[in-house]
Amino acid sequence: MIYLDNAATSFPKPEAVYLALDRFARQSLANPGRAGHKMALAAEHALDDGRHRLNRFFNGKWPERFVFTLNGTDALNMAFKGVLKRGDHVITTNLEHNSVSRPLVAMEKAGLITLTRVLADAGGTVDPAAFRQAITPNTKLIAVTHGSNVLGTVQPIAEIGRVAKEADLVFLVDAAQTAGVIPIDIQALNIDLLAVPGHKSLLGPTGTGFLYVAPRIQLGPWREGGTGGDSSTPTQPAEFPYFLEGGTPNVLGIAGLSAGLQYVETEGLAKIHQHEVDLTERLWKRLDEIGGIEVFGHRDMTRRVGTLSFRCEALAAPEIGGILDQAFDIAIRPGLHCAPYIHKAVGSYPDGLVRVSPGPFNTSADIDRIADALKEILT
Ligand code: ALA
Repeated sequence: MIYLDNAATSFPKPEAVYLALDRFARQSLANPGRAGHKMALAAEHALDDGRHRLNRFFNGKWPERFVFTLNGTDALNMAFKGVLKRGDHVITTNLEHNSVSRPLVAMEKAGLITLTRVLADAGGTVDPAAFRQAITPNTKLIAVTHGSNVLGTVQPIAEIGRVAKEADLVFLVDAAQTAGVIPIDIQALNIDLLAVPGHKSLLGPTGTGFLYVAPRIQLGPWREGGTGGDSSTPTQPAEFPYFLEGGTPNVLGIAGLSAGLQYVETEGLAKIHQHEVDLTERLWKRLDEIGGIEVFGHRDMTRRVGTLSFRCEALAAPEIGGILDQAFDIAIRPGLHCAPYIHKAVGSYPDGLVRVSPGPFNTSADIDRIADALKEILT
């Protein structure tokens, strides 16, 4: 079986992740912080280790500001619902995944916020100047994806972050498609809120993710409950990360996430990125040779992640996905990719596109297999 759906979740994980999960589940799967016994301390240590590792990887200064979440969506909901107040204006883009656009549209429909959507150009990139132009006296937040999960295009977040800083706005980055392959320095990029799933390019298991909250950001509570320590306070302790981490955390998943992150650190993010982009470029060339295939997004590979979306006149995207799966045992994701606005903008709504997203363990032979299969299906 050939897995080329790493934009949805990475597979396989590095061997070290499987080993860490097995070892942790057998030896240390206690409730962190809830008791003083050795296993509870080992579990607490796994959380601390994960937080410090994330803090280093994203060049943070405050490990406690990395709050573990269920996934990217959980982190984004925590951020939007914690930060926004009635009357606030938000600037976002038409590249966003539903995990950004749905909570924002729901708040807009409820009459709580107003929303401006900056449009990407034909190549799939937004212009930082458009954010400056969209600012109103009520603007509170700029929320932008770092990498389009449909087009694979990387957005100019350094420039957008500067716009946010100049106007004293909260700057949120959804790094679902970039964390682990494109460097993110939260301080240099003026990022106030960084939402990241752990199961994509950070190579951890599903059920993991985090929200980074800069110390200057005031957030409302998310879920309230037990935090282990400080049991006597009648309400949620204000101290981070406990303020946002009520309930038993997914400490097993976080042990796996730490192992995934360690793999990325050891291999080097730039090397993994280059490998994935090289595979994407190889596929693009093969698609050009087949002919009759329209690939979306600009072709500057230095501003892309390893995600390629395309369509062909002969067959709709869902049919191609089905045939690749059933007849060739190749896993890709066809359709709208939970990002309807950009599909509408590029003219691929409602059928969607075929999305191929290689990961660190795919090879040129995998790309040749899918290219050969597409040639057989389409010609
Ligand atoms: N966000 C994931 C994707 O793009 C699920 O497929």
